[in-house]
Amino acid sequence: MNQPNAHHSGQFCISDISINRLGYGAMRIVGDGIWGPPKDVHEALRTLRRLPELGVNFIDTADSYGPYDSEELIREALYPYDGLLIATKGGFVRHGENQWAPLGRPEYLRHAVLQSMRRLNVERIDLWQLHRIDPKVPRDEQFDAIAQMQREGLIRHVGLSEVGVDEIQAAQQHFPVVTVQNMFNLVTRRHESVLNYCQDQGIGFIPWFPLGAGDLVKPGSFLDRLSKRTGFTPGQIALAWVLQRSPVTLPIPGTGKVRHLEENVAAAGLQLSAEDFAELDRLGQAAPETPGPGA
Ligand SMILES: NC(=O)c1ccc[n+]([C@@H]2O[C@H](COP(=O)([O-])OP(=O)(O)OC[C@H]3O[C@@H](n4cnc5c(N)ncnc54)[C@H](OP(=O)(O)O)[C@@H]3O)[C@@H](O)[C@H]2O)c1
Repeated sequence: MNQPNAHHSGQFCISDISINRLGYGAMRIVGDGIWGPPKDVHEALRTLRRLPELGVNFIDTADSYGPYDSEELIREALYPYDGLLIATKGGFVRHGENQWAPLGRPEYLRHAVLQSMRRLNVERIDLWQLHRIDPKVPRDEQFDAIAQMQREGLIRHVGLSEVGVDEIQAAQQHFPVVTVQNMFNLVTRRHESVLNYCQDQGIGFIPWFPLGAGDLVKPGSFLDRLSKRTGFTPGQIALAWVLQRSPVTLPIPGTGKVRHLEENVAAAGLQLSAEDFAELDRLGQAAPETPGPGA
């Protein structure tokens, strides 16, 4: 087989920016509980530097990963980001390991964007995503603040995270929504209708926790047998399924390890047969969801 390369996953245009569909999530290059620096900073940097060599040109991060460590490491490893789309997020504050509190006051969102620009050392964020709509702040105030920053040129394109169709439509009254990032994998299917809406609208759908396959990986299961038959790991098959589910899916598997990154990118070259895709789809629909990791 060819060398692993994200190019094999196909391309998608986030508005005017073309990317390879298989991206990378930079939430795993920080400490446990998504708090503080990584245990092995050299391996985290090696992982980031391997991305362009593997054709990965879409990198997802957030100010709250660490907080700050993920954006800072991306800058250290990859600045000036030639040919890379660095997508970040804001709208969460952190009070410790695995603790996430939404904060969507307009002045805080502005603070978040300006600080991400400083950390990444850019004059404009190419894709900035509202990490969560803060339920304590009227959503139109949050969307207005974002639209204002887009008008000022601080943000090029806007995405949302963990939203329903009605929320996307409300945001579309304020700015074009180019991506939606919701938890989605073989067995986590509660956002099927959001994915279908994104496909209809040409919005990129970024499924986070894309490697999740829950109980489907049990020894002797269909996925286990498919893995033995094809030589691909269950995680690679789960990723291939997400990629084949829709032309607008842009999975961002996260890892802090070069070996895992290479394995994940190799899934870009896996084409499931129509029968195997359909059987995985059926089993995934019927399986219980697995609880997701942090945010
Ligand atoms: N919008 C949101 O609210 C939200 C929430 C969560 C995550 N995200 C984004 O989505 C990205 C992906 O989500 P995720 O990281 O939670 O889920 P994921 O990519 O499905 O799984 C990551 C986990 O799997 C492990 N892993 C990765 N590749 C592996 C491999 N080949 N073999 C064995 N283990 C492997 C990682 O550990 P190792 O580091 O040991 O490889 C990590 O524990 C994040 O990085 C982040 O950018 C967004």
